[in-house]
Amino acid sequence: MNIPFVDLRAQHLALKSEIDEAIARVIENSSFILGREVERFEREFAAYIGARFCVGVSSGTAALQLALIALGIGPGDEVIVPANTFFATAEAVSNVGARPVFVDADPAAYTIDVGKIEAAINARTRAIIPVHLYGQPADLDPILELGKRYGLLVIEDAAQAHGARYRGKKVGSFGVVSCFSFYPGKNLGAFGEGGAVLTDDAEIARRVAMLRDHGSERKYHHELIGYNLRMEGIQGAVLSVKLRYLDQWNELRRAHAALYGELLQGTPLILPKEMPYAYHVYHLYVVQSEARDALRAALTEAGVQTGIHYPVPIHLQPAYRSLGHRRGDFPEAERQAERVLSLPIYPELTAEQIARVAEVCREFFAMTERHRLSSACGANADGRRRP
Ligand SMILES: Cc1ncc(COP(=O)(O)O)c(C=O)c1O
Repeated sequence: MNIPFVDLRAQHLALKSEIDEAIARVIENSSFILGREVERFEREFAAYIGARFCVGVSSGTAALQLALIALGIGPGDEVIVPANTFFATAEAVSNVGARPVFVDADPAAYTIDVGKIEAAINARTRAIIPVHLYGQPADLDPILELGKRYGLLVIEDAAQAHGARYRGKKVGSFGVVSCFSFYPGKNLGAFGEGGAVLTDDAEIARRVAMLRDHGSERKYHHELIGYNLRMEGIQGAVLSVKLRYLDQWNELRRAHAALYGELLQGTPLILPKEMPYAYHVYHLYVVQSEARDALRAALTEAGVQTGIHYPVPIHLQPAYRSLGHRRGDFPEAERQAERVLSLPIYPELTAEQIARVAEVCREFFAMTERHRLSSACGANADGRRRP
């Protein structure tokens, strides 16, 4: 049984007629860039998250960059980001001319370690970007508290957490702005690139909307020097269809995570932990093992695709060599990079597939244990003593 890491085709087939209809509407209206389908999605997604405004853009990275620019963050400023995240979180900070300042990961939650943020704040710090990593909300209360105490902006990176909740309220509705990605494999994924900036602040929303479209609100009148980072009509149309299914998909992801939890209980794997404040939406199901690479090889051998999110923490990426970090600076993020393994998780995954993945993991550890015992007593793996 081959088990892919994600199965976008299965999701598409289930919605095919609705999606075909939505795409046909875009073609019919020739509303290929922005336009009414994007506007409709913006209204629906803002209402879903519980924010006043949503501005559709061309990717999650664009959302982060435009949010930072709209907030006036640039050269000379520092922005706190987790050391364990997708590269784009830090990259967006660098691309606006500011400096990313890393903070280590929490060992249980995987998100930014809130106990270590304060030590990273100085006179140049302007903002904190908590990332709701793998679908688990960052611990927002202490972050918002620090923001208030030090006058810092909190920008949520919710690229992996559509529909996740922090103490009952959807993430993306806490920070001064929040940024989403609709990259195809995300919990809410487009048919190409897509992203959104959400905010309750009318002026920030206006600035982001202008910046994504050459700094203009009215065609050929340019108030700002902006960019071409607009959302396409087809993406808006597809996302509106898919948004109707998001809650049910997230529930399925949670059920799959619970089943993995049951079936992997008692193995040496460290399983993901839903924090008491969190409604986790399991964009990724990330386990940890000291034998990660060998386990991954055994899963690949058995036809199970896995991922590593992420193999190199941001502070050790060659692109950030100039910041002068070294191994040991953020030990938990480094430890996670060596041990994390993402097992397949998506709504269409079946109980049989999950059982098979768990079985391969169990067999792997049983075999490792046999090897350990046999080498401890000088026998071969098959139990016979060495000559
Ligand atoms: C945490 C995080 N931030 C930002 C991004 C960037 O989003 P995109 O790929 O849409 O540019 C991603 C997605 O890949 C992400 O996972």
